[in-house]
Amino acid sequence: MKTFTLTRPDDCHLHVRSGALLKAVLPHTARQFARAIIMPNLKPPVTTVAQALVYRDEILQAIPADLSFEPLMTLYLTSATTLEEIERAAQSEHIYAFKLYPAGATTNSDAGVADVTSIYSLLAALEKQDIPLLIHGEVTDTECDIFDREKQFIDQYLIDIVKHFPNLRMVLEHVTTKEAVQFVESANSTVAATITPQHLLFNRNAMLSGGIKPHYYCLPILKRETHRQALVQAAISGNAKFFLGTDSAPHLTHLKVNACGCAGCYTAFGAMELYAEIFEQANALDKLEGFASFYGADFYRLPRNIGTITLQKQTWTIPAQYDEITPLKAGEELTWKII
Ligand code: DOR
Ligand code: ZN
Repeated sequence: MKTFTLTRPDDCHLHVRSGALLKAVLPHTARQFARAIIMPNLKPPVTTVAQALVYRDEILQAIPADLSFEPLMTLYLTSATTLEEIERAAQSEHIYAFKLYPAGATTNSDAGVADVTSIYSLLAALEKQDIPLLIHGEVTDTECDIFDREKQFIDQYLIDIVKHFPNLRMVLEHVTTKEAVQFVESANSTVAATITPQHLLFNRNAMLSGGIKPHYYCLPILKRETHRQALVQAAISGNAKFFLGTDSAPHLTHLKVNACGCAGCYTAFGAMELYAEIFEQANALDKLEGFASFYGADFYRLPRNIGTITLQKQTWTIPAQYDEITPLKAGEELTWKII
């Protein structure tokens, strides 16, 4: 049977929540990935090193005994973040980045930054301390069409941020448009991007055509086919600026299948299988290891992982539910399986 072995990968953008949800989802990630960049949008948000260390301990407790996994913690940037906290983060061996959420852009982003241009002193401190800035790149202006919010963020804010802070390492998270791909490609080497499986697999028809399908609803929202194709080309390009970040974002099924459903696709259960299918379809399985296992580690200046994982060509059906979470593509088939 056909198999494919690669260096153990890292997930450079992951939501694991806390409490029961954390216990339900973390084993899925730990089974596949050696490390993950953990998002701080809890309620309340993880804004201090002290909070992040408590959260890190909770995550460590949830790792199954037979697996090794390292959570790489991030802090939630707010307009109340202090220069002292940035300094503390720089000195901590467990903090890898700050996450910028424009206020109101997505799940638990209320504490985010209302005016991005008002926090330049904080961005200057991140640049000075050489801490990466992770960006949810969407404007929150309700007048702006939801499908244009990423492009608008680049035009309105990001071009200026990159100009002002040439040495600030930043990741434009979960890119969804060809404009974002072009922006990252042409920016200097400090600027990188993560790409999710859902944005590589689906365009907005998957969510909106033939009935509304809430399990495909995430933010930034799925875009039209031309954008999906640009993302696939970026992912398989071998350009080290583009690397794996699932943005796996579990929500209980009843909170997604709801008159006002939550944003987020749950993909941690089979992330590498989903990516393998995408890369294989694009005739680029040989580019998966760089994307999944090397470029993210290099960006974060981490040693590349030593171990390997093996995928086997084998058809299996994704369960309808994992606990009370509906996975992406529930009930459908995948053609690769981690062994
Ligand atoms: O779809 C999303 N879900 N996008 C985000 O930016 C946040 C995430 C979540 O935390 O649920
Ligand atoms: Zn996210």
